[in-house]
Amino acid sequence: MKIIVVGGAGFIGSAFVRELNKRGIRPLVVDLLTYAGRKENLKETDHDFIQADVRSEQIHDIIKDYSPDVVINFAAETHVDRSIYKPQDFITTNVLGAVNLLEASRKFGFKYIHISTDEVYGEECGDENSPLRPSSPYSASKASADLFVKAYVRTYGINAILVRPSNNYGPRQFPEKLIPKAIIRTLLGMHVPVYGDGKAERDWIFVEDTARIVFDVMRKAEWKGEAYNIPGGQRYNVLEILKMLEEVSGKEVRIKFVSDRPGHDRRYCMITRMKYEVTPFKEGLRKTYKWYLNNRWWWEPLITDKFFVEDEPWLAVKGK
Ligand SMILES: NC(=O)c1ccc[n+]([C@@H]2O[C@H](COP(=O)([O-])OP(=O)(O)OC[C@H]3O[C@@H](n4cnc5c(N)ncnc54)[C@H](O)[C@@H]3O)[C@@H](O)[C@H]2O)c1
Repeated sequence: MKIIVVGGAGFIGSAFVRELNKRGIRPLVVDLLTYAGRKENLKETDHDFIQADVRSEQIHDIIKDYSPDVVINFAAETHVDRSIYKPQDFITTNVLGAVNLLEASRKFGFKYIHISTDEVYGEECGDENSPLRPSSPYSASKASADLFVKAYVRTYGINAILVRPSNNYGPRQFPEKLIPKAIIRTLLGMHVPVYGDGKAERDWIFVEDTARIVFDVMRKAEWKGEAYNIPGGQRYNVLEILKMLEEVSGKEVRIKFVSDRPGHDRRYCMITRMKYEVTPFKEGLRKTYKWYLNNRWWWEPLITDKFFVEDEPWLAVKGK
């Protein structure tokens, strides 16, 4: 099977490349290598690589030359705080980039897997057919792309599916996200900023589980625009996670409450029609902690990033 992994140098995309390698598949990775995409994430994997923007015409040339059976799209701007601060790239990459791939699918006839998110359902507990109720510019951009996928299947008859994982955690996640941020700041003896009352709840899934389940979905899909939810079935709020991090690390986690994220959803929660096993959260957290502890070379060059040291990046919007 010939597969192009767009956004394969990011956190989940690189885990998916590892999953493909386990199954004996060497994919072509296409990635712009933004701040979140790093060649280091693909270390010791078997792949070809082209640096390109999902929004560009170049993508069509790459697809035409490679003639893939499947294109899977992980490429996105993914950090909600950044989407509050500056939504433009979220709209161009997450919506127009996806539409660019849908156009390519019309032209070249490959099967398209669009990676969406549980955030499109908003705070309501969603099954695959629940209404979309996005709250942030990030989730609005993801929901928009989902609607285009469905519209292209219906209008042009392309083969495509939507996959909606819940909050992923694990090795190689950029340290702006809660779990790596909390681990690294704790290792450095810094406080961990916690939004609002710390009770915002998420459904958590270990990234290697997501990669495996996405592969299984790819084998079973009907390619009629249907969605596949991938929850981990383990819901914890921020304070509960930080408590578990103390247990797993044996270190004190110093919490600093900061003002809440604007429009912050109190919870995400999904139901799925699929059956699968997942890594128990504490075990996954232990693996993740160990990985960051043993791979300082991966994150140390990132700790000067201003978004990592700032507690509340969106405050710039309010002129503070
Ligand atoms: N991380 C999560 O918890 C989570 C949960 C549900 C869904 N998702 C979705 O999964 C996908 C992957 O998320 P992630 O956490 O791995 O993100 P990430 O931020 O770690 O990686 C995104 C990747 O996309 C690439 N990229 C960004 N803009 C691009 C462009 N214009 N052209 C080409 N490549 C570009 C980046 O270089 C990076 O490699 C996203 O679609 C995200 O919305 C993530």
